[in-house]
This record gives sequence, C-alpha cells and structure tokens, in this order.
Amino acid sequence: MEFPFDINQLFSERVTILDQTLGGGRLTPRRPNLQSQLVAVIDELGKASAKAQTLTTPVTSTIKLQSQQHQLYVMKDGESNGGRGVIVGFLKVGCKKLFLLDKKGVHVEAEPLCVLDFFIAQNLQRHGYGLELFNFMLQDKNLEPELMAFDRPSPKFLSFLAKHYRLTQSVPQVNHFVVFEGFFLNKAVVQLRKVSLRKPDGEIKPYSLMERDVVRQEQRTPPWPFAPPHSPQRSVFSQYSHSVGSSPTRVPPQAPAVPVPGIDRDQNPHFPLIERCRARSTRSQMGRRTHTGAYRSTQSGQSSHTTEQYIRKGMERSRVYLILPLFISYQICPTPLFCV
Ligand code: ACO
Repeated sequence: MEFPFDINQLFSERVTILDQTLGGGRLTPRRPNLQSQLVAVIDELGKASAKAQTLTTPVTSTIKLQSQQHQLYVMKDGESNGGRGVIVGFLKVGCKKLFLLDKKGVHVEAEPLCVLDFFIAQNLQRHGYGLELFNFMLQDKNLEPELMAFDRPSPKFLSFLAKHYRLTQSVPQVNHFVVFEGFFLNKAVVQLRKVSLRKPDGEIKPYSLMERDVVRQEQRTPPWPFAPPHSPQRSVFSQYSHSVGSSPTRVPPQAPAVPVPGIDRDQNPHFPLIERCRARSTRSQMGRRTHTGAYRSTQSGQSSHTTEQYIRKGMERSRVYLILPLFISYQICPTPLFCV
C-alpha cells in the first residue's frame, strides 16, 4: 500500500511492533506530522483488512490499538515506490481469556495469544510476505502456532495455516475462535483449570467478547439503558449451532456475552506466555476495582444527592433486576450448552 509520504521515515525496520503507546520510545516522531501519518497508516490498514474480509467495520484502528493491550506488527518494503517504501501488511495479536472445549468437550479456561487481524496488501498476497510476517511474530513471542487461538479465521487464513504450519485439525468450539489439536496436547494448556459448570458461587463473569463481535455490537446495539436486555445464554445456543464442527463464517453473527461460573484466576498454568497474558489482565482488573472503589467512596462521603447520582442509583438497581433472572435461570439450568 502506497502512502503520500515517506514510509521509511515512519518505520525504520522492515517489521515494526506497535502497541498501546503507538511505538513508545522506539518510534519517536521527529516531526509532529509523523504522528498523524502513523495514525493514517494504521487506520488505512484496518480499513483495507476489513474490506478484504467483508467486515463492515475495521477490527483494527488507532483508537482501538490505544485502548487495548494488543500488538500490531507492521511490515514495509522500504525499497518500493521510488525508495519511499510501501506498507506490505500487518498482523495484530493479543491475549484473550477464552473458555474452550477440549477434544472430549470439557470446558477449559485459557488465555492464549490470539491472532485478531491479519492482512497483506491485495497485490502482494501469495508472495510469501504473510509467512515472513507471521514467522517474525512467532519468533518475537517465542511461540508455536498451535498454541495460539485464531479469531474467526478467513478461508485464506485457514489455507495459510494449513499450508505453512500443517494446522488442519481444529477442535470445535462454541465461540468463533479456532484452536487446533496441538493446543490441548500442550501440557501447560491442559493444566489450566477445567471450568466447573455446576457451582455459580462466585460472581457471574462475562464471556470474552471477540474483537469482531464487539465491532458488531457497537454498530447494532444502542447504548444501555436504551437497548433491550439480551439473553447471553441464548447467544450461546445460536452460536453453538453455527460454529461447532464447521469453519467459521465471515458473516457476522450476534454478539455473545455468555455468563460463566466464577473462576479462580490464581491457578498457575506453568506457561510463561499465558502467565504474561494473565498478569496483564489481572492488572487491568485491579485498575477497574480501584476506579469502582473511588466512585463508591465519593458517594458515601456526600449526604445530599445530585440528580446525576439519583440516575446512577436507578441504573444500578435496574442492573439487579436484569441480572437476577439470569442468575435464577442459571441455577435452574447451570449448563446451558447441554440444555438445548
Ligand atoms: N486464496 C486461498 N488461499 C490463499 C490466498 C487466496 N487468495 N492467499 C493466500 N492464501 C494462502 C494459501 O495457502 C497460500 O498458499 P498457495 O498460494 O500455495 O495456495 C498461502 O496463503 C500463501 O502464503 P503467503 O504468501 O505467505 O500468504 P499471504 O502473503 O498471501 O498472506 C493472508 C496470507 C494474510 C491470509 C492474505 O492472504 C490476506 O491478507 N488475505 C485477506 C485478508 C484475510 O483474510 N486475513 C485473515 C483474516 S482472519 C484473522 O485475522 C484472524
């Protein structure tokens, strides 16, 4: 992909790794407009990838990258375009907490590194660039591809994985992530805690939302409280019939938000990468807790209520009315997948 500026000024390496900080110390813009050029490159790549995958909204954008703990590997060809360089493509990865089914259909909690978006410029596809970029990422993460999960891989990507890494035997899942048999053969993954489907003692935690589902949810659902409450369990049922045993479809299904029983996050998976992923999400959880605590102490510290506080309290109560029926239905039928 060509841009009306010098790609080599923006990216010094053949592959540049960007994260939340948009390059942090490694990509220090020497001119103020380099920052806007970087934004343009990321956003254009995201749009091109969405178009290639027939998604209506990009999975990748600068704003999303800044708000999530993902890594973007951007590849350039510095010699093309009269020495100004072109962007060859990108690969976005990130850790996701997933509830997966192993070969025996047992639920397993895992937090693997996932491929979230992958794109090589149309005119450069099937030239080996995808393989080069993917291998770069694997080396950077010190990881084997079968230990990764793939968010709704396209037919081209499935073909790519089969050809280059012999990943052909996927294990059916109830969500749109694809994992292959080797994922569960790995000791570290198997040691992950099997998810109890019986005892909903802890708080009900939301199922990991998938990148592409979030996109769709943002598009279709008006913000709460204007949106009607949807049944997360129903989402599982509908997804189950579509995803198990079949290749993922590019047609976006409904957004899932599946409640699962509370899970002890301190289980040690003995797997450095997964541990790193877990540590990150624990930190972010701590951040959220602190925020909630601060809000509560502000409330209790005041004797009179503002209108905004009354509205907030009303919303809190409404959430109880929404969650209570879900909790009761969960008590009646704790294993929704098998109650169909
Ligand atoms: N049709 C079928 N298979 C293809 C195609 C295609 N048009 N293009 C690449 N492949 C697969 C084939 O297995 C191919 O081998 P073959 O030519 O012998 O059949 C192999 O990939 C080629 O390997 P590379 O040249 O290294 O891969 P490439 O540089 O083309 O990158 C990629 C692969 C990223 C999938 C690229 O084709 C692409 O950008 N496709 C469009 C966007 C897309 O589908 N991205 C994946 C989204 S899903 C996700 O990110 C989780």
